[in-house]
Amino acid sequence: MGFFANIKKKRNIKKGNESKQNAGPKALKFAAKEQYKQIRENLSFLLPQDGNSVVIGVTSSVRSEGKSTTAINLASVLAEKDCRVLVIDADLRIPTVAKKLGIERTPGLSNFLIGQLEKAPIYGLKTNEKLFVIPSGDIPPNPSELLGSDRMAAFVEKLKESFDYILIDTPPVNLVSDALALSPVLNGLIVVTRESFTEKREIKRCFRQLQLADVKVLGTVLNDASGGRAKKYRGSGYNYYRKADYISPETKQKKKD
Ligand SMILES: Nc1ncnc2c1ncn2[C@@H]1O[C@H](COP(=O)(O)OP(=O)(O)OP(=O)(O)O)[C@@H](O)[C@H]1O
Ligand SMILES: [Mg+2]
Repeated sequence: MGFFANIKKKRNIKKGNESKQNAGPKALKFAAKEQYKQIRENLSFLLPQDGNSVVIGVTSSVRSEGKSTTAINLASVLAEKDCRVLVIDADLRIPTVAKKLGIERTPGLSNFLIGQLEKAPIYGLKTNEKLFVIPSGDIPPNPSELLGSDRMAAFVEKLKESFDYILIDTPPVNLVSDALALSPVLNGLIVVTRESFTEKREIKRCFRQLQLADVKVLGTVLNDASGGRAKKYRGSGYNYYRKADYISPETKQKKKD
């Protein structure tokens, strides 16, 4: 029996610690959803089969490769598997998760980490009752320090009591060290690259940094890929995930015009 089937049911989030919002991930096209499901299934082979909660960071080498999109869509398909899933926006520099999901960005993680809040707000999404989000909160001057703090580590440990999967969206590795600062709380990182966008030298630099920091890379998502060119990334020494051929609402509109 696979890992997902073995996960123990988590207890409910305490009342008063979540607020319902009329929001959720936009419906994915069938093909894109199948790709995210494929990533979900691949993960089940890579993660420990002990039924413990799993904490996965999502990062990339540079900006705009599709980290937040991947974190949200992967969380969404995981939550369809009868798992309780939490997305944390730990991109405390240019946060986008709240906007993508149509919820308030602040207060959020940063406000909790600096001690302004006793509890971080956890938003439930109406589109899937097993999917939850902690937005970034206000932009702090010291994101890396906050994410690497004991308070963050203790918080993630506590959240593991309530969620089967925690997906943490982070800024790009080649620009700032935030994803590396988080690595002690992670089971591993998923590295997103974008076809015809990410330069090879940036990918190399990113993996070199992750290797130096001894961060476990669970796999790479080749985002926005055209099937034929995907194999150029094979053989990099890291597990290769299928392309996440996501079509955004903006793209759809452009195609219609
Ligand atoms: N496969 C795709 N097809 C079309 N558009 C996409 C795809 N993936 C992402 N996008 C779009 O590209 C933009 C950047 O994606 P996203 O915000 O997920 O990247 P990111 O890596 O989180 O960026 P940042 O580094 O700024 O946080 C968004 O407008 C998103 O809707
Ligand atoms: Mg992002």
